Amino acid sequence: MKSLSWIAAVAAVATAQAAVLPLVPAPQKISLTGGHAVSTNVIFRTEAYLPHEGYRLTIENDGATVASSDDAGAFYARQTLAQLPQPWPRLKIEDSPAYRWRGLHLDESRHFFGKDAVKALIARIAAHKLNVFHWHLTDDQGWRIDVPGYPELVKYGAVRSASPRRGTHPSRGSVAENAEALDGERYGPYWYSEADIREIVAYAAERHVTIVPEIELPGHVYAALAAYPRFACFPENLSARDPRTIWGIEKDVLCIGNGEAVAFMEDVLDYVCRVFPGGFVHIGGDECPADRWEVCGKCRAFREANGLSTAADQQAWVTRHFAEFLAERGRRAVGWDECLAGDVPESVVGMCWRDPGCAGAGQAILPPAEALRRGHELVMSPNSYCYLDYGQGLENDPLQYARRTLTLERAYGFDPCAGIPAELHGRVLGGQGDNWTEYTWNAEELDQKIWPRAAALAECLWTGPARPGFSDFTARLALLRGMQSAGGNSGAR
Ligand code: ACM
Ligand code: ZN
Repeated sequence: MKSLSWIAAVAAVATAQAAVLPLVPAPQKISLTGGHAVSTNVIFRTEAYLPHEGYRLTIENDGATVASSDDAGAFYARQTLAQLPQPWPRLKIEDSPAYRWRGLHLDESRHFFGKDAVKALIARIAAHKLNVFHWHLTDDQGWRIDVPGYPELVKYGAVRSASPRRGTHPSRGSVAENAEALDGERYGPYWYSEADIREIVAYAAERHVTIVPEIELPGHVYAALAAYPRFACFPENLSARDPRTIWGIEKDVLCIGNGEAVAFMEDVLDYVCRVFPGGFVHIGGDECPADRWEVCGKCRAFREANGLSTAADQQAWVTRHFAEFLAERGRRAVGWDECLAGDVPESVVGMCWRDPGCAGAGQAILPPAEALRRGHELVMSPNSYCYLDYGQGLENDPLQYARRTLTLERAYGFDPCAGIPAELHGRVLGGQGDNWTEYTWNAEELDQKIWPRAAALAECLWTGPARPGFSDFTARLALLRGMQSAGGNSGAR
């Protein structure tokens, strides 16, 4: 177990390696040419043959020269410059990312952090050369996006009557059975307007971060059903018009046999395509129990009419339908790995979160190599390396966590291509860290959970197999944090 103060724990290592520069993630290639620059002038120039997002940075006596083939490369060179101590050492760096998708996910359904926290997070991930912000905007416990034509979504879906108290973990059973665990406090309404979203999208774009919005379907939709009970298989289950007040997996899901419910989700996704310009839209697909579908007359009739024999076929129909809907709007669907198991278009990007052997909600796991062979591209986010809601393995840690552990060292060991045959590596887009927020109540706690583990993941995704190793990483990290607390600037500019 490490002490809570990991900075202190690694300070000795940092001192022993005084020549180490505080660059996180580490560049692919760096050579120090001796001495320091006397100027902080920076010249930018375009060199078309350099890789997308890559750059070459040369620091001589008279300042820095940055070469890149695109704006993203110049941006990442600026992040590197911002991490260097002044006066700048003379050096040459040649750098480019190992992976295209370098992501961080944030669940704002369970707890809501708001525009300023989201912008601060985007700035910080960009400073670590991450380029995707996966924004989990809807789930059973809260709906966080105002959609024109559906005013009840924020009226009912963005506020819940209670939440689990700190120190409790209610996730199964009825609300009545969990009454002791609930705080009885109204949570919300919390949601984003179109103006908020456009502001955040623009802020992210300036930092070369693409936002991938997630609208969960067909499961994890209870907050939407609280707003529009008629879109559930059994509307009477939603008569309280209250999102789910305990954690866990909800059995009331979208009624696929109800054309109006499907049209509702189309309207939501159509709007999402209008306000989020990025190429990907995440449609969830995880943990969708079939209990209601099995006994719903409308769902059964729908299955029969469409030649679908099982609930798994019904879920595959959902994935196909919405993937095609998004494709018509020039977007690619991304889904959690459950949705890959059936007959779904190879254009669907799979987001693999379940470690092999993890049964999840009982849905089949398609092994990543098999999904790649079927033609899917994948984003790897296996929970035992990438779930930042897991405990950090620190002593006397005041934060509350989901029950498993992910240490900083293990996060640093993340390899998106682990166990995947080399000929399939090209279809692994990258990976991401995920922040589920059942046990994260505010932006400060969120920060403490994300960092420094997200910095370790950033190095896995940017530097990739060439990264220099965990003790080198922690030494650089300690220097960087030391520089930041002394007032140095390493935020994304
Ligand atoms: C997930 O953790 N249910 C994607
Ligand atoms: Zn139904």
